[in-house]
Amino acid sequence: MEKLFLLVAVTMAASVSYETTGKCSPLSAAYAIESPEFRLIHFESDFEIRLYEEISWMSALVHGTSFQNSTKQGFHRLYQYLHGANRNSTHFLMTKPVLTTVIPSSRGSPPSYIVRYYLPVEYKSPPPPSAELNLQLDRWKGHCIAVRKFGGYAMDENVEKEKDGLVSSLGKRLKRVMQGVENRDYNYSIAQYNASKHPTGRLNEVWMDVSGFAAKGCPV
Ligand SMILES: *[C@@H]1O[C@H](CO)[C@@H](O)[C@H](O)[C@H]1NC(C)=O
Ligand SMILES: *[C@@H]1O[C@H](CO)[C@@H](O)[C@H](O)[C@H]1NC(C)=O
Ligand SMILES: *[C@@H]1O[C@H](CO)[C@@H](O)[C@H](O)[C@H]1NC(C)=O
Ligand SMILES: *[C@@H]1O[C@H](CO)[C@@H](O)[C@H](O)[C@H]1NC(C)=O
Repeated sequence: MEKLFLLVAVTMAASVSYETTGKCSPLSAAYAIESPEFRLIHFESDFEIRLYEEISWMSALVHGTSFQNSTKQGFHRLYQYLHGANRNSTHFLMTKPVLTTVIPSSRGSPPSYIVRYYLPVEYKSPPPPSAELNLQLDRWKGHCIAVRKFGGYAMDENVEKEKDGLVSSLGKRLKRVMQGVENRDYNYSIAQYNASKHPTGRLNEVWMDVSGFAAKGCPV
């Protein structure tokens, strides 16, 4: 729990400074926190399929021991980038969600985690990060994602269970989508939308890439 609160404190600091430094930023007109846009393709009570257009992320790869520790470490590196540790000393606004991609262990290699900050579309060519942060710019092509929502805090104790819940829902309702999930080694991501200071009303999501298998309207 303490670790979680650290992450929260960092996240909070980020959203607070966004209000004060935002004035010089191209995003200052909109005081809402930005999220990537999507189109709903398919809806069920326990999951949905969304089509996202191209999304750019600044990403931190972490060879960590746990979801929570790795998310905290990765976010710490991103936080420095957002607060000027980049070639132009640019300050960025906080966005949602903070995404942690989990690459499950396979063939004896330990799991790894990629923690991601969503770059709003206004930042078409973001300044390169300071080298020591070891961050990478990832551009995702438009694709479909299966999404399961859950409340509370995203923790080591529940993220895998929520992922299994999504896999089980897909297996029951959209069997052909399962092929896409299997073909992608069950890679999944956890999207966190709220700063840790909010104990209730929290929103998290499991994301799994189901492009090409999901439904009409998804890119092949
Ligand atoms: C998370 O990190 C803390 C301190 O860095 C460590 O004591 C703890 O064992 C780690 N947790 C896991 C599950 O690796
Ligand atoms: C960084 O700043 C230089 C000069 O101020 C500008 O020409 C360049 O476009 C900026 N680069 C980015 C990626 O913002
Ligand atoms: C799982 O994710 C990692 C990191 O993004 C990627 O290198 C790998 O190709 C993915 N696996 C599949 C089968 O897509
Ligand atoms: C958490 O984030 C979601 C999505 O942005 C938002 O709808 C919700 O109101 C937030 N909850 C709190 C307690 O701020």
